[in-house]
Amino acid sequence: MAPAAAPLQNQPWDKAAEGWSRHSSLVNSWLRDVTGAMLSSADIAEGGRVLDVAAGAGGQTIDIARRVGPSGAVLATDISARILGLASENAAAAGLSNVTTQIADAQSLGLAGAGFDAAVSRLGLMFCQQPLVALQEMATALRPGGRLAVVVFSQPQSNPCVAILMSTALRHAGRAAASPFAPGTLFSLGKPGVLAGLLEAAGFSDIKVEPFAAPMHLPSSRHYLDFIRSSGSPIMEILAPLPAKAQNDAWTDMQEQLNRFANADGWCGPNELLLGSGRLAATVASA
Ligand SMILES: C[S@@+](CC[C@H](N)C(=O)[O-])C[C@H]1O[C@@H](n2cnc3c(N)ncnc32)[C@H](O)[C@@H]1O
Repeated sequence: MAPAAAPLQNQPWDKAAEGWSRHSSLVNSWLRDVTGAMLSSADIAEGGRVLDVAAGAGGQTIDIARRVGPSGAVLATDISARILGLASENAAAAGLSNVTTQIADAQSLGLAGAGFDAAVSRLGLMFCQQPLVALQEMATALRPGGRLAVVVFSQPQSNPCVAILMSTALRHAGRAAASPFAPGTLFSLGKPGVLAGLLEAAGFSDIKVEPFAAPMHLPSSRHYLDFIRSSGSPIMEILAPLPAKAQNDAWTDMQEQLNRFANADGWCGPNELLLGSGRLAATVASA
């Protein structure tokens, strides 16, 4: 098992935790279709025991908990104690008693032999420096024949709003644009073939990777920026070292560029996600 990438205190996502949780209804409606498809691909059904990795504020955790019902259970894990605390609160507020949480780096879950029926991760795996290790860790937590489904961003050209946010933030921060596919970044698993190759290397069979359109509908680009300014940890992190005025200039620049997605009904930002899934083969190499 790989060591945790960093001590689990003071994670970047701690600063975006309240924002992401506060925007739960926006996130849930944005990701409703792909989340339903992720749960179906993972064969999540009544009575199932499910591992949810990089669970965040628990949007998909709650969907899973409802689907498995009182005879099933969900273990939600995340590297950020702060956002995971909000997942607990949100599950309790939804009246669910079949959700438990565990703070854990996806790359060192420590759940080998736990025998989960299914494991999922929505918009989390791409942030791992070693996504293969994370998938191997998820594999060891599954029962033989258990299913896995993950959702990640596809390529920059299919996610123009995210690409604008990244390139503009880097430019204002005076940082060179790194490869958009650098490990641990938003598009790190978006190149064709990468996710399928990792699933195969982690011991999964019956592998499928499908693109999924996930447009975000909002009244205006300002509403999108309000979401990103409080919840978009990777962009917030790039701008954090800048003085307040320089940060504001960067957000204004982004908003002006994002206005190109305004339409007669308000604003619609295109996004494309990848839904990858597989079944655990009978024998799995340990991580
Ligand atoms: C974009 S949010 C997605 C949260 C949730 N899955 C959702 O879709 O609403 C990304 C999450 O990944 C978590 N994360 C990032 N790197 C991680 C790692 N190495 N191990 C576990 N969680 C991680 C963050 O703390 C954050 O909660």
